[in-house]
Amino acid sequence: MPPALSAAELRDANTRYHDVAAGHYDAKWGIDFGDVGRAQVRAKVRRALGREPGFYPRSLEIGAGTGYFTLNLLRAGLIGEATCSDISPGMLRTLQANAARAGLAVATQPADAERLPFEDRSFDLVLGHAVLHHIPDLQRAFAEFERVLAPGGTLLFAGEPSRLGDRLARVPKRLAGALAPAWRRALRAAPAPPAEGDAPDAALEGVVDVHAFAPGQLARVARQAGLEHVRVSGEELLANWFGWTNRTLEATAAPDDVPWAWRLYAYRGYLLLQQLDRRLLEPRLPAAVFYNLLLTARKRAAAR
Ligand SMILES: C[S@@+](CC[C@H](N)C(=O)[O-])C[C@H]1O[C@@H](n2cnc3c(N)ncnc32)[C@H](O)[C@@H]1O
Repeated sequence: MPPALSAAELRDANTRYHDVAAGHYDAKWGIDFGDVGRAQVRAKVRRALGREPGFYPRSLEIGAGTGYFTLNLLRAGLIGEATCSDISPGMLRTLQANAARAGLAVATQPADAERLPFEDRSFDLVLGHAVLHHIPDLQRAFAEFERVLAPGGTLLFAGEPSRLGDRLARVPKRLAGALAPAWRRALRAAPAPPAEGDAPDAALEGVVDVHAFAPGQLARVARQAGLEHVRVSGEELLANWFGWTNRTLEATAAPDDVPWAWRLYAYRGYLLLQQLDRRLLEPRLPAAVFYNLLLTARKRAAAR
């Protein structure tokens, strides 16, 4: 087993990995800043809160990446003044380019989630998507989230890997790995060429994910930070298995050989299964079985 990395090494690995990933992140993950992305993000916020979202005048996103959440929330009219932070300056450069293309104004600030360069009580909403699992010291990060939230403000995180969901997702990944040669033959696709110089460092890929969570663990860290009304829910099961199967297959083929019709099938199928998960499974099954966990909490309102 490789020796465990220190917190500083994990932060450095995350910065370097995501700086390189920034150039092709949106294409790799099918990130959308149009109607589809806006509907996805709105649905995730509604699912996390368990009700229709309100309006948040000042928001801060942690690990904002290329802007998936904040830019779509701005377009949905759910946030006013938006600030995006990330440990990777490369990600924030891509975010600004995406914001400029969409005609949206966002302030960006490189920052480690454990040391936020913002005044106490300055945001009505602190949010993030797929970031908590990269942060070495969660207690310290949550203390920072609580500090920068205004009294009565909302904390909202989505897209965090659940420990059990992550284990279950290994099944379709393994299956797809075994089926890949036959799948490539059927599509007449050549195997993927070796990674190029600007591909994210494969060695770093294995170390940037620091945690997968049990729902109770996420709830505990929020409560320990003094937050109230803590709520953890789960989303995506079938959509996730379908997505991982297809992504695993596609990663083994030369990108130009994957037919457009296949990509369309994979994309449409994913959106369809997301709906099925949302309507049928998410209201009925426990949070732990889903691939993604969502967390919301509130900072205590000021004493009157
Ligand atoms: C999986 S990406 C998600 C990006 C974006 N939120 C999204 O959903 O597309 C994780 C992001 O967290 C950032 N990150 C990793 N460790 C961090 C830390 N300690 N503090 C702040 N951001 C961090 C990465 O640079 C990256 O942009």
